[in-house]
Amino acid sequence: MTELRPYQPRDLLALYDVCLRTGLSGEDAHHLYRNPLLLGHYYAAPYATLHPECAFVLDDGQRVQGYVIGVPDSRRFEAEAEASWFSLLRGLYPLPGEADQSPDARMIRRLHLGYPAPDAPWAPEYPAHLHIDLLPAAQGGGWGRRLLEALLITLRAREVPGVHLGVGESNVRAQGFYERLGFRLLERKPLALVYGLRL
Ligand SMILES: CC(C)(COP(=O)(O)OP(=O)(O)OC[C@H]1O[C@@H](n2cnc3c(N)ncnc32)[C@H](O)[C@@H]1OP(=O)(O)O)[C@@H](O)C(=O)NCCC(=O)NCCS
Repeated sequence: MTELRPYQPRDLLALYDVCLRTGLSGEDAHHLYRNPLLLGHYYAAPYATLHPECAFVLDDGQRVQGYVIGVPDSRRFEAEAEASWFSLLRGLYPLPGEADQSPDARMIRRLHLGYPAPDAPWAPEYPAHLHIDLLPAAQGGGWGRRLLEALLITLRAREVPGVHLGVGESNVRAQGFYERLGFRLLERKPLALVYGLRL
């Protein structure tokens, strides 16, 4: 019986797995990375660990099939992650040389960059941000909408005024999903689009 439930610490490794299996514009990114943890180190684990109240998973009784994770205040999250997450990770993964342009090296550079909070004109109105990923078997059945709504209820209860997210330019499926759920395009970047929703 598939259920949507709050994130538990025992789900952490499953989050890493789902993150990797959906990490290439929604497709499996397994083959790209020598280290299967790097994507989750950046895009999943710190969110669920530092803001478990904003993390929900889809559990089919056998495994976690998907998640939504978010933070209520991106600027505060930048500082929280600096203090308690990236300091540890940077010790584990030293900066690679500039000549190394492998996917692993690019992700390690992100770990050294941290999460620079957006300073775009729209940023004050959309302080929260989120990531949502479902494995292929769980896609297209309404679970994405339900997961997202669970997070939006939490953010609204905390009186967060708005939420934003980034989506790869080539991930047209996810773009259609966000537009269907009422998100509007805030910014077009070279390889990504930023969407926002007022709460
Ligand atoms: C994108 C994703 C989260 C959507 O979740 P989902 O469970 O597949 O979507 P749902 O079935 O809940 O769809 C919700 C609504 O959006 C609509 N929708 C979904 N994709 C759409 C699309 N490409 N275009 C238009 N509408 C779309 C559905 O028809 C549905 O409408 P309704 O509720 O009014 O009937 C999911 O497919 C996914 O995780 N994909 C892989 C990872 C990924 O790309 N994550 C986003 C990274 S930015």
